[in-house]
Amino acid sequence: MNMKKLISMLLISACIVSMAACGSKDEGDKKEESADEKQTLVMATNAEFPPYEFHDGDDIVGIDAEMAAAVAEELGMDFKIEDMAFESIIPAVTGGKADIGVAGMTVTESRLKNVNFSDTYAKATQVVIVKEGSDIAGPDDLTGKKIGVQLGTTGDIYASDIENAEVEQYNKGFEAVQALIQEKIDAVVIDGEPAKEFVKDAEGLKILDEAFTEEEYAIAIAKDNEELLEKVNGALKSLKDSGKLDEIVAKYIKSDAE
Ligand code: ARG
Repeated sequence: MNMKKLISMLLISACIVSMAACGSKDEGDKKEESADEKQTLVMATNAEFPPYEFHDGDDIVGIDAEMAAAVAEELGMDFKIEDMAFESIIPAVTGGKADIGVAGMTVTESRLKNVNFSDTYAKATQVVIVKEGSDIAGPDDLTGKKIGVQLGTTGDIYASDIENAEVEQYNKGFEAVQALIQEKIDAVVIDGEPAKEFVKDAEGLKILDEAFTEEEYAIAIAKDNEELLEKVNGALKSLKDSGKLDEIVAKYIKSDAE
């Protein structure tokens, strides 16, 4: 029958179309490896951290975003970014919601209990931002002060160790800086590069010369995913060797000369 034939043809073409759609979207289970289907590398981040990750219109851009996209490319994978609270990144990685956590994330002993870290890709510091004319001249003067931090960051952890200090936790580093401008707090402890970005756009703020700590950033990966850890380290190495990583960094961090 003609009608029957038509229907079965339609069904067949619908299958073909949907298979093609599946193949290109690649939203299938990341953990199920299939040889001919491109896997998606899902990056968890908190895009409130210029120049490493921040919003540019509808896009999330920055050093981490571009570096992770380049890692995915090295691995022949598609790439996707999931934006979330900083606190949610490690749970997203351990829970399998994301493959990698890339968020200017400092390697710390306590995080190493929950995730593996890739080789490091940047050196960083925690710095102190104060209002111009502040009586806080160095990290030692933070005793007994009101300090703003981004919740769950190393700045938060270090500030909590300062004697008699009152720590105000904000969801975004930028909100801590706003609070400082409004004199609700006395200082902000935050990573050096974002500090420069935030201070650049505000008036009457300065970064103290003496940094609080030295740290290193790396990519967080689930402990049970050693295979991905090795692949990511391999990709990072070739991005370092080829100069591609330096190129990405230079695009977002202008030399200190200016
Ligand atoms: N380096 C600090 C930490 O690891 C702060 C990172 C904040 N990153 C972000 N995307 N908000 O705790």
